Order: sequence, then structure tokens, then C-alpha cells
Amino acid sequence: MRTRDDSLVRQMASARRIETLADKTLDFGVDGMRMVLTSEHESSFEELLLSWYSRQAAYGRIAGTGSHVPEGRLTNQDLQKLVETTPEWIEKRTGIGERRIVGEGQAASDLALPAARRALECARVRAEEIDLIVVATVTPDTWMPSTACWLQARLECRRAIAFDVNAACSGFLYALSIADNFIRAGKVKSALVIGVDVFSKIVNYQDRGTCLLFGDGAGAIVLEATTGDSRVLSTHLYADGTGASMLEIPAGGSRLPACHETVERRLHTVSMPNGQEIFRCAVRGMSEAVQAALQENEVTVDDLALLIPHQANIRILEAVGERLGVERQRLFTNLERYGNTSAASIPLALDEAARGGRIAPGDLVMLAAFGAGFTWASALVRWG
Ligand code: ACO
Repeated sequence: MRTRDDSLVRQMASARRIETLADKTLDFGVDGMRMVLTSEHESSFEELLLSWYSRQAAYGRIAGTGSHVPEGRLTNQDLQKLVETTPEWIEKRTGIGERRIVGEGQAASDLALPAARRALECARVRAEEIDLIVVATVTPDTWMPSTACWLQARLECRRAIAFDVNAACSGFLYALSIADNFIRAGKVKSALVIGVDVFSKIVNYQDRGTCLLFGDGAGAIVLEATTGDSRVLSTHLYADGTGASMLEIPAGGSRLPACHETVERRLHTVSMPNGQEIFRCAVRGMSEAVQAALQENEVTVDDLALLIPHQANIRILEAVGERLGVERQRLFTNLERYGNTSAASIPLALDEAARGGRIAPGDLVMLAAFGAGFTWASALVRWG
């Protein structure tokens, strides 16, 4: 019997035959669904099942990427005028040279819109063909409705389901996993997955411990159903809420609604009391998530063409590379130009890597993230 891949064999093994009605008709249950198959040809039970699965089983394939960053730049020299620091300290301790910052009145969907349009163009998919929009962000246009809904209207993706995901810097991989699972479940055929954040609106530019890290940006992908081998091979998501207070925006939610006092005390900006602990957790979390993906897919780190980690701090990225045994050439970085763009970091890097010729069809690309929550995640992708 011809088999497509291991996961198909595993799915077939879980199929439960209920009844053979006639030589060429099967009535069976698979994953809670009841199916009736008929065949005009001489086929065994397994062949019928395989043919049904090869028509049904779909996975998410990254069909196109896009990104967008605002024009405004905030350099280390600029920061030196705002807080007690030096460009040398920032460069040495973070690897960040400058960040892109939105203009007055610009919001998340203003960055997400051009990124999404570029991804659609790259995938040669029309907006009206999109079934699902998932936007990862912690800086939505508004708390209600979701940024995904604002974007759905602006893109004219009329039939798309739309919602936001809040998993901070891991948000894009959470969103990717959700969209991939919608496709695997047969619920949608195409999805726009977007990571966007506008941290310049929630950073305290009097706090030298955080203001140097973050920038604004957006990245997007089109995920399409495929039965081919080029696809998202796996996603691994993790969370540990005991780290919640390590990185938070204390006010603005139902715990501490906005009032004069919360504004005066700058409680609507990022609070990060222990950067060093986050540093350690990020290295450990991203490394573990990558190792889980390698193990599940039975590949080694040497099989990876590129590792794209969340662009937090060059020292975090290098420590992850060292821990995993990924040398500098296979470790993608662009944080020197953008800083930490939170949910946008991975899709922005992926778009640059793809357009810059760093990834070829057939390549294995590993994505890894860590962020507030704590949340962390990995995704292994066969490019093409
Ligand atoms: N400029 C100059 N000196 C500074 C600055 C600054 N901006 N900030 C701190 N210092 C000083 C400190 O006061 C301290 O001085 P001391 O030795 O006299 O006490 C010294 O520099 C070392 O301070 P540390 O806090 O130990 O600096 P560290 O090397 O840990 O760097 C940083 C701080 C950059 C925040 C680092 O801990 C980090 O990147 N942590 C990860 C945080 C992160 O990435 N958060 C983003 C969200 S989560 C994520 O994306 C993974």
C-alpha cells in the first residue's frame, strides 16, 4: 500500500471500521465523523481509506509572506536624550541599533494592512478568498472590537472569520498554530495570520530598563490548505502563568480600569521588574520548544536551514543558538534595525528571510518565541 507520510498512517490507524455494507462500499467512523465511501474500482478497505484521506487531509502551507514597518526611526542616540544610558551600552547589552516608531494617530491595523496586502500579493490570493483572519497583538486598535475585525473590513475579506490572540511575543506562533489547526480540521481553506504590535504606545520612555528594547512593526502570512509535503509540520505551544507579573501592563483592563491615577502612575505602560529572569526563561523556553519540535518530527538541528527566533536581545538569540548547536549563519537576526517588535518579530523576520533568499523550497525552517504570560512556542515549517 502506498503511504503519504507517517501522520497519515497514524490517522489511518486510528480509523475505526464500522461496517462493510458491500464489496465496494464502506461505512466507517473516523475522528468522530461518520463516512460512507463507494468505489467503482476494485479497491481494498485500506486503498479506499487512503484515497479518502488524500482528498480530505490538509495541512497549512505558507503560501506568501509580507511585512511593514513605519517610517519613523528611534536611534540609540535619540534614547540617550530621554534616559540615562549610552548608545554603546544599548548596542553591547541588546544588539539593537534602532527601532521603527509609528506617527501620531497610527494604530496596529495601519501597520497590519500593508503587511497583509503584501502577503496576499505574494501568495496570489484575493482578499475575498480568505476564510480566517487571526491577528496576534497586545496593542490592538481598540479593546473592542478586535483588530482582526477592523482589518477584515479594510481588506474587504468579506467571508473571513476574524479574531485576535493575546500571547505577547509568542502571539504569532499561537495564531499560526490556531490557523493551522483550523485547516487541519477542515474548517477553513485559507487564512491570514498576522503579528502586529505598536509598543511605542505602551512603553514608558522614562524607564531605561524597557524603552530601549521595543519597536513597532507588522508581519503577515497566508496559510493555505495543502496535501503536499511543504507545510507547517508541527507547532508546540506552552504557557506558565506564574510568570504573569514579570512582564505586564498593570492597568487598562478590568482589574485596574483607566482613571487619572493609573495614568499619572504610568500603569498603562510595560512593567518589567526583572529583565534578567526573563532573559534566562526566554533562553530556556525557546530552546525547549525547538527541541520538542525536532523530536516530534524526528529531525536533528543539522537538518535545519534556518532558525528564526523571536528578536528579543542578541544575547538571548546567541545563547539559544549555542544551547541548540546552531551556528551564527543559520540564526536569523534583524533586531539591530527593528528592536523587539513583539508579535510582529517572527513574521517580519520570516518575510525578510524569504524575500532575501535565505530560505529555499524544501528547506526546514524553525520558528521559536518567548513572551509575556509567560508563553513560549515553536513551529517547524517545510518551506515551499
Ligand atoms: N543604560 C545603561 N545602563 C543600564 C541600563 C541602560 N539602559 N539599564 C540598566 N543599566 C545598568 C544597571 O543599572 C546595572 O548597573 P549596576 O551594575 O551598576 O547595578 C547594569 O546596567 C546591569 O543591569 P542589568 O539589568 O543586569 O542589565 P542586563 O545585562 O540584564 O540587561 C536587559 C538588561 C537588556 C533588559 C536584559 O536583562 C534583557 O534583555 N532581558 C530580557 C528582557 C526582554 O527581552 N523583555 C522583552 C519581552 S520578553 C521577550 O521578548 C523575550
